[in-house]
Amino acid sequence: MSKKKLPKLGFLYLDYVLRFFDHSNFKGWPDKIESVTYHWKNDKNRFIKEVKKKKIDVLIGNIPATAYETFREIARELPGVRFIPSLDTQFSNKSKENVTRFAWKYHLPIPRTHIFYDRDKGYKFLEKTKYPKIIKRSYGPSNYGGYFVHKVDSKKEAVKLFNKKKYHPMYIQDFIPMQADIRVMLIGHKPVCAFWRRPPKGEWLTNTSQGGSMDYQNVPKSVLDLAVKTSKAAKAEYWACDIAYGKDSKVRILECATAFAAFPYVRDWIGEYLMWSLSDKTLRKPHIPMFNWEELGKIDSSLLRTIRHINFGKYSPSFDGAYFGKKKKTFGKEKVYLHKLDKKYQMFDVRKKLFEEWPSETWNFQDRFALKSIKSMKVKNLKREKTPFASGDEASKKIQLTHKEIHKFLTSVKGIGEKKAKVILNDLKHSKIVQTLQFEPEALLEIKGISKSIVDSLMKKWNEFLEKGNK
Ligand SMILES: Nc1ncnc2c1ncn2[C@@H]1O[C@H](COP(=O)(O)OP(=O)(O)O)[C@@H](O)[C@H]1O
Ligand SMILES: [Mg+2]
Repeated sequence: MSKKKLPKLGFLYLDYVLRFFDHSNFKGWPDKIESVTYHWKNDKNRFIKEVKKKKIDVLIGNIPATAYETFREIARELPGVRFIPSLDTQFSNKSKENVTRFAWKYHLPIPRTHIFYDRDKGYKFLEKTKYPKIIKRSYGPSNYGGYFVHKVDSKKEAVKLFNKKKYHPMYIQDFIPMQADIRVMLIGHKPVCAFWRRPPKGEWLTNTSQGGSMDYQNVPKSVLDLAVKTSKAAKAEYWACDIAYGKDSKVRILECATAFAAFPYVRDWIGEYLMWSLSDKTLRKPHIPMFNWEELGKIDSSLLRTIRHINFGKYSPSFDGAYFGKKKKTFGKEKVYLHKLDKKYQMFDVRKKLFEEWPSETWNFQDRFALKSIKSMKVKNLKREKTPFASGDEASKKIQLTHKEIHKFLTSVKGIGEKKAKVILNDLKHSKIVQTLQFEPEALLEIKGISKSIVDSLMKKWNEFLEKGNK
């Protein structure tokens, strides 16, 4: 057997940002996998040099919103390097505005949305529009759990909110009464996991921690189909989509991104998929049956978080007929055999793209229209790269906390005592805790003994803390 030369892989890491992949997700890759870490603040040239020196062909990893524009520049200076996911695919990771522009371009259904960089025009719109509306902060560190998502029932409320919050741009969306929202995760455009997040009775936010429920059963066909369409439009190797399932039964995209909280076994599948694709299909293609999530979802999530490298055999009539061959599912308008759905929802080999679809010269509205009016309102301009701890940065100085202060903050949170604070501080260095709260609070769930409700209380406190600090 002739041995083909494999591309040289590297993990793209950033200081303080939790890692989506590591070597354990790429079990079986025969060559050494490099890693390159971005240190923020004027680190662009050094980063580029290191990638060149290590002769990396493929850089794998998610880029947080605050580094997105810098990495578009880096990618341009490394034309021979394939980024996975590509910067174009990660366009939606940057902001809610970008998700919206992506959906507009591909005619993907979303709630009707208005985006204003011109505050006068925005306020004029508030005068004449119908209510209720949803107002969101488009860009910024963690939007965890809808903390920067507001429902306003009248013009008065909307104006009050914008006077107070000064969100820029003004991002205003029709309020969609919904049954639930559904998260779908895809690999090579194939759904591999999906679950409902239902709002608690009488509430509009589908925030599971506030008493909403989460389940894996009978995700509608229309939702999976929209998720696939969206993944294809983004040309995504891997992808997650939050889809609103309206009271009118219509589906609309709320969020989509390559960065999402995923069980380790899902990240293993992505690794396996990428190894298959990057080895020109000489390594094994993972077979991930449709609706596996309905069965895996029955396992307690604390155990699911520890299960690794789940493998499934392919359907074969002689062996598996007893299970797969007989199991039928109501799906859309028909009843179908489960294994037949695997033909319908294929796993595609996503290849390298050869042109830039979303060049920043055109699409980075945020930096081009950092409005004067905003400056006069004494709101800091959104910087292209906002390192939370960059020295000289006013806001970040305020969140440079000592070990003792962090400890005090942690133990002030309901559900965190001495013991849990110690576990957290052991698991993450104290500087990293703030970064995690800023960028990726969901990653705290990976720490033993930290539940979703603790993370929620933590985020509530954290956001209160930031608001206080910014006054
Ligand atoms: N247009 C909308 N109409 C009704 N509910 C919405 C709307 N947009 C968001 N929501 C609710 O708010 C939640 C958070 O909004 P989302 O856009 O996902 O922001 P984030 O997750 O960043 O906080 C959603 O999961 C959904 O329950
Ligand atoms: Mg969301």
